[in-house]
Amino acid sequence: MSNPTCIFYAATNGELRRHALRLEAEGTIELGHVTVDPSELIAAVGAQSPDLVVADLGEDPERALDMLDKLPTPRPRLIVIGPKDQSGAILRAMRMGVRDYFDTDPSEDDLRSAILRVGAELEPRTAVSAPEKKQPARAVAVMGAKGGVGATVVACQLAAALASRGGRVVLVDLNLPLGDAALYFDVQPAYTLAHIARESERLDPTYLRTLLSGKPNGVQILASPVHAEDAELVRGEHVERALHLLRGDFDWVVLDLSRTWSETTVRALDLADLVLLVTLMDVPTLHHTRKHLDLLERLGHGGARIRLIANRHSSLDAVTDKDVEEFLERKPDFRIPNDFPTTLAAVNRGVSVGDISARSPLARAYIELSQALHGWFGAQQAAAAKAEPSQGALARVRGMFRRS
Ligand SMILES: Nc1ncnc2c1ncn2[C@@H]1O[C@H](COP(=O)(O)OP(=O)(O)OP(=O)(O)O)[C@@H](O)[C@H]1O
Ligand SMILES: [Mg+2]
Repeated sequence: MSNPTCIFYAATNGELRRHALRLEAEGTIELGHVTVDPSELIAAVGAQSPDLVVADLGEDPERALDMLDKLPTPRPRLIVIGPKDQSGAILRAMRMGVRDYFDTDPSEDDLRSAILRVGAELEPRTAVSAPEKKQPARAVAVMGAKGGVGATVVACQLAAALASRGGRVVLVDLNLPLGDAALYFDVQPAYTLAHIARESERLDPTYLRTLLSGKPNGVQILASPVHAEDAELVRGEHVERALHLLRGDFDWVVLDLSRTWSETTVRALDLADLVLLVTLMDVPTLHHTRKHLDLLERLGHGGARIRLIANRHSSLDAVTDKDVEEFLERKPDFRIPNDFPTTLAAVNRGVSVGDISARSPLARAYIELSQALHGWFGAQQAAAAKAEPSQGALARVRGMFRRS
């Protein structure tokens, strides 16, 4: 007997999702994933080989059964929820070897009993030594100095490069109200930051995990609200709570920030370990960059926490590093080459630039950026240890961003 590892395919059944969370909380199951996306279910089963899939067949049982038929082998045991008045679907489910077929809205007790019957068939798992306590994730905020400089591309591609090197990475889309990070990964989020805001009192690590979107073993995304007006619901305290929980579950948290200085942006900047300010080597963008650097400084985010990223860099740029240094009193810390075709292909297909062309200077730049982060974190930690507590004028500047 063992607690089965389960993946829930909840179609549109919110109640089933809640059952899943409670069954995990009480220790009846180990919850691998909850999804409403058929291709995500297939990928999750391939990646995790769960003992059991609990699937709601939704409004089109035949189509859902077609999809369950395509699950990778060895096929997990199946518990299915579907209409009891469709004998064709029931018969087909039985032929597929479904363990239990429940009418819509089964009670939690019925589900638990069915899952325990599956658990009774499993070999006890060999005891494994307790995992090493994981370091909390490092949080990197990415902010554009001006609209369209490529901040979202940098955040997404950096996240993908960190994941390609084995890191567990979550990208939080705080580009409110019109974030598009999920689109850049070709993911349609079922849940967003709006759910976090609405259900913040229920937020715990397990619940938060079910609100993430993304391909199994790829970058996970906490998407921005689908409806722009819902962005109003998201407050600094929600960002803080989500980030706190995500840090315990991941190696890296990448934040795509809005360049509007809102309460959520300011709170996210406070919580991030490093801020990557993305700029271009042209006069109008550098002008905005200077204003952002100045405000960051006055908010207490100077020195080692800020890194300047020159995006779309080219040796033909009219503005040189020397000009930048004279104007900003600092040089770019990192340059990302100008390569529109590769960037566009990656964005259009929702993949990494490495998937488009692994040997391109652009893909190599993102791998190097992910490596550079390690050194920057070392420098930032050393500086933080020496830092004076922030005070005075700071409070006045901060007051501007407080919500009533
Ligand atoms: N290294 C690059 N080379 C060429 N084009 C790039 C590069 N990086 C980003 N771009 C292009 O820049 C454009 C803007 O990118 P992106 O949406 O990431 O900008 P942003 O700063 O997040 O914009 P917004 O202010 O709307 O949030 C896109 O068309 C993208 O393909
Ligand atoms: Mg953006």
